[in-house]
This record gives sequence, structure tokens and C-alpha cells, in this order.
Amino acid sequence: MASFLKFLSLAAPLVSALTISEINGKNFLSPFKDQTVTNVTGVVTAKGPDGLWIRSPTPDKDERTSESIYVFGRAFATNFTVGDTIVVGGKIVEYRSTKDYVYLTELSSPKLEKLVSSGATVKPLVIGKDTRDPPTEKTSSLDGGDIFNVPNNVSLISVANPVLNPKIYGMDFWESLCGELVTVKKPTAVAKPNSFGDTWVIGDWKISGKNKRGGVTMGKKDSNPETILIGSPLDGTANPKDTKLGDQLGEITGIVTYAFGFYRILPTTNIKVTKEITPVLPSPTKLESKGKCDGITFGAYNVENLEPKSAHLPNVAAHIVDYLKSPDFMFLQEVQDDNGVTNDAVVTANLTLTTLVAAIAAAGGPSYAFTEIAPVDDQDGGAPGGNIRVAYLYKPSLIRLYKPNPGNSTEANAVLPGPTLKYNPGRIDPANAAWSASRKPLVAEWEVVAKKSGKSSKFFTVNVHFASKGGSSSVQGDARPPVNGVLAARTTQAQITATFIKEILAKDANAKVITGGDFNEFTFVEPLVQYTKISGLKDLDEVADIKDTERYTYLFDNQAQQLDHMFISKGATRGAKYEHVHVNTWVEYDAQVSDHDPSVALLDVCA
Ligand SMILES: *[C@@H]1O[C@H](CO)[C@@H](O)[C@H](O)[C@H]1NC(C)=O
Ligand SMILES: *[C@@H]1O[C@H](CO)[C@@H](O)[C@H](O)[C@H]1NC(C)=O
Ligand SMILES: *[C@@H]1O[C@H](CO)[C@@H](O)[C@H](O)[C@H]1NC(C)=O
Ligand SMILES: *[C@@H]1O[C@H](CO)[C@@H](O)[C@H](O)[C@H]1NC(C)=O
Ligand SMILES: *[C@@H]1O[C@H](CO)[C@@H](O)[C@H](O)[C@H]1NC(C)=O
Repeated sequence: MASFLKFLSLAAPLVSALTISEINGKNFLSPFKDQTVTNVTGVVTAKGPDGLWIRSPTPDKDERTSESIYVFGRAFATNFTVGDTIVVGGKIVEYRSTKDYVYLTELSSPKLEKLVSSGATVKPLVIGKDTRDPPTEKTSSLDGGDIFNVPNNVSLISVANPVLNPKIYGMDFWESLCGELVTVKKPTAVAKPNSFGDTWVIGDWKISGKNKRGGVTMGKKDSNPETILIGSPLDGTANPKDTKLGDQLGEITGIVTYAFGFYRILPTTNIKVTKEITPVLPSPTKLESKGKCDGITFGAYNVENLEPKSAHLPNVAAHIVDYLKSPDFMFLQEVQDDNGVTNDAVVTANLTLTTLVAAIAAAGGPSYAFTEIAPVDDQDGGAPGGNIRVAYLYKPSLIRLYKPNPGNSTEANAVLPGPTLKYNPGRIDPANAAWSASRKPLVAEWEVVAKKSGKSSKFFTVNVHFASKGGSSSVQGDARPPVNGVLAARTTQAQITATFIKEILAKDANAKVITGGDFNEFTFVEPLVQYTKISGLKDLDEVADIKDTERYTYLFDNQAQQLDHMFISKGATRGAKYEHVHVNTWVEYDAQVSDHDPSVALLDVCA
């Protein structure tokens, strides 16, 4: 008796005569999850390698409830063709490949109850015409209005299971179309494909944050959910891997689904580029040095794991000369030690930097001098053995370290009366636990050699490479707001650096302080909100009035975004100009020299 009861309670309840929209329901999870259903009628709209998709012949009027569903079963699918109307039963399953993703509703273990007819006409829903336009800003109702709200991961879609609001929230919109056959008219690539050829696109619907190149730029409270990823084609063909930001593509028809952390369309066949965007490369910067303190050019470039034998070293040199027009001064990040990722005790980067300087000269550039402080072996993160660090290049005929007195890797710099620095250059608070496995900022004090009308013209620089966002969860994942990886350490790093700068400015409110580098964060997110608040520095993009949508140095997932910044003190804002030079974001993946774009500023550092 006991075992019979146990069997009964475990047996899935049986439900009959359901529409597909009833199965999907108006929330993320099906109200029939784990139940066996019968008498589900649908028209086959597409077939994939492991199943097929059916659409209800009796749709409801509720836009929250998808009218289509995935029927999972390879052998079952082989028995049907597109246009067959079938009555099917099976078990409703919520599937995800890892717990960080959102569930996909499927009808599994399908059993044919009836083949009703064949040859029904199957028409895709045109997005933005047969459906509403996708929402353009917000991703999920559980984000409190912004994917970057802190704290992260305070709720899970799989637990909260909110009612869909496809008008406001991007995930809800795409969820409400899960399983549907759709068409994207006039698609444009808004990023480069990943290694599988998966490509983010926008269609001919309303777009927010569109940049001049045709992509979409992340904005404050704008996570661009109107973009959609195009995944692996259903017919076994492969998407091209050389698509570029802004390329125009042929019309795409396919099935909306969710996999590997994102809503996506599985196209019936591969993406085709119909019009390549030109010119492939941007114009060189228009900002050129005036050769004196009222017009010094400052370049910044994350040179992506540069070592003496890097194949991309001559290309980095050519970018600096041809596209950045050999700035007077360079903030570099990701300079590796003299033998790159060879994991031994070598930490110096003299050879790496000497090789780069020689390549710049060979490319027609100036003879740069450099300075850096080698890190303690294996303590600053990045590729194991590489010992990446920040470094400065400068034109010694124009700029020199003010009373050089370099600190070593463990000596903490301090602001002395003047203001001046205890170590020049020196690292900021290198023993602080916030810098564990991360680069320590390098602060230096400089003077312009050719002084304008005899005036003193000193300036301070801080070169940063904050901790990266490793461990972030998908923007369309289960955790809401999504996990912004290493946020806590980055916040403390920003506070430490900003506090040091504040000390300089407390001693001289008119001091010229220029901070640059790879902050691994956006200006409107907690670490950099704190950075500007504590330091009093100004975001150079704001000072130079760069259009919001043109503020990008990096492509990640669906968006153009800005990880690399310059922040300057009030004393350095007079006539400030700034440009992001898109030599890497615009080209195809195989042609990029670094994963970041460099930037150039023209600043007046005269006293
Ligand atoms: C199956 O559904 C149809 C309507 O879709 C209904 O007419 C029929 O009675 C149902 N059959 C069973 C066995 O529930
Ligand atoms: C496919 O159709 C054949 C013939 O009707 C049937 O014997 C077989 O069980 C079907 N396969 C599946 C997986 O439903
Ligand atoms: C490399 O740099 C370190 C630290 O600046 C210095 O002590 C050393 O002499 C340099 N080595 C060479 C070969 O220039
Ligand atoms: C740095 O210099 C300090 C003395 O100021 C010394 O105690 C320390 O060992 C040095 N660290 C390294 C890594 O050379
Ligand atoms: C989010 O938090 C839950 C606990 O509520 C945890 O199980 C999950 O791993 C977290 N997700 C991420 C991506 O860290």
C-alpha cells in the first residue's frame, strides 16, 4: 500500500486539450511544468537537428503568451515536414544547461496523437510589424530599473517567475516569442561574431543608443535589449565569422529560443552579408601636439598582452604613429614582462618597451622614453607568467619626470607638500588587498620641458588598469540584476585611487591631474561613480562633449561600450579635446590588433 501511494504521488498529473499559449502561460515558467499533456494541436513551423517547433492554429489575444513551442525529440521530428498539422502529447519540461541561465519551455517525449493535415502555409511573424517593437532600454522587471544596480543578484527569474511585460522589458519580449518563427527585416550586425559565428543584430525597428557606425552603444539605464543574437543555422550551414560592426545582412528568418545565456534566433539558413560597411578603418585622430604646455597630446591604449615577440607589436606601433599621430605621452596597459607568458622569475619589461619604442621609431614615430615599475612576480593578475603592468611612453624632448625618484614594486607612493610625490613614479598602496591579482596604478609627476612664457608647467598622471569583470553573469541570465564580476574589488580600487588624487588636489586645487587607462567599468556604474565623486575629477568625455553614443572603446556581447577612460582635474579642462579612435572595434575579428580601441586627448597643462 505504501509503495503504491508513493508511486501515485510521483506520477505526473495528466492534463488534456490545451492550447500552446496555455502551456507557455504569461510568466517565464510554464504553469504545466513537469506535467504530462495531451491533445496539443500545432502546425510545424521549422525543424532542427533535435526537434521541431509547432505553432497554435488557435492563437489567443494575449501578447504575453507565446503561440509556439519546441517539441524536443530527434526521431519524432524526422516524421514530419513544415506545414504538417499535428496533435501531440508529451511532458512539459523547463530546460537549461546551467543554473545561471533562464529556462526554456519544451514539450518532451512527444507522442503523435493525430496527423491532421499537411501543407498548411507557414508565415513567419515579422518583428516590429506582426509583433510590437522590442523594448529598447530595460532588460528585466527584476533589475530595479537598471542592470547595473547594486547589489547584484538579489533575485532569480527562475524563482520570482514574473508575469511578462513585453512592452517594457527586453527579456520578457523575447520570452513572449519563444518558439516562434520570426523574420528580422534589414538586419545590421552590431558586434563581431563569436567563435561559433553567433552574431548580434538589430532589425528595422526602433533603436536606442545607435552609434554612427551602425552599432548600439550602452548607455546609462540603456542595456539595448532591442538587439537579438543570431545563433547556429537550423540547416547545418555556418554563419560567417568575418562580419563587422555595421555590416548589413540579408533578411533573417528563424526560431526564437534561449540557449547559452541569451535569447537568440536560430536562422533557417546562414547569415549573409549584403553590404560591407566602409571605410573599414577610421580616420586618424585630428588631435595633434602643439609642442608646448598648452597643447600636449595624451594617448591611451590597452595593448593586449604585449611582449617583445608579439606578432601584433609592429601593428600597435603603426597605430600609435599613423592613427594616434604619435602623442607626446602614452598611457599603456597590458605590457607583459620581457619573456611574456614564460612563467619564470622575470618581471622586467625593459625589453618589451624597448622593442615597442624601436618599432614606433621604425614606423616613422618619435624616439619615446618609457617608465614603469615591474610588479612582484605573479601578483598582478592577467595571463599567468605575463606579469602585465601599466607603463608610460613620453617624448623626452618635451616632457620629463619631475625630480625622478622611482619607487619599487612594494613601496607605496605618498603625496608630499608642494604637492609633490614621495616616489616618482610610484605605485599607489600596492599592499592593499584590493589589488590582489590586479594591477596597481602608477602615479607620476611630470614637467613640460618647453615652458610657455617661463611658467611652470607640471602635471600629474595616474595610469590604471582596474580588475576585470571576470565572473560576470549573462545580462540575460537568471540572476537579477546580473552579476557584475569583481565589482567589490573594483569599487575599492576606485576609492583608493580617488583618495590619492584627492590628496593632491587638496594641496593644490589647480593641479593638473590626468588619469587614464582601462578602468574595466562604465562611468555610470558604482566604482566610477565613486571615483569621480571622491577625486573630484571630471570625465573627459563629458568635458570634451563627446556624443554619448560615440563613447565606446570595446565591443562586448550586443553593445559597444567604454571601459577605457580619461578623467582630468578641473585645472586641466581648459579647451580639452578627446577622441576615441576605433581602429579595433570597426574591423573584423582577425584584423583587430587589440581588443580595445585607443584614445587621444589634447590638453592644456600650462600653469
Ligand atoms: C482535443 O482538443 C479539441 C480542440 O482542440 C477538442 O475538440 C477535443 O475534444 C479534445 N479532445 C480531448 C480528448 O480532450
Ligand atoms: C515515426 O512514424 C512511424 C510510422 O508512422 C512510427 O512507426 C514511428 O513510431 C514514428 N516515430 C516516432 C519517434 O514517433
Ligand atoms: C630594467 O629596468 C630596471 C628597473 O627600472 C632597471 O633596474 C634595470 O637596470 C633595467 N634593465 C635594463 C637591461 O635596462
Ligand atoms: C622595496 O624597497 C623597500 C625599502 O624601501 C624594501 O624593504 C623592499 O624589500 C623593496 N621591495 C622590493 C620588491 O624590492
Ligand atoms: C545568484 O545567487 C544565487 C543564490 O540566491 C546563487 O545560487 C547563484 O549562483 C548566484 N548567481 C551567480 C551568477 O552568481
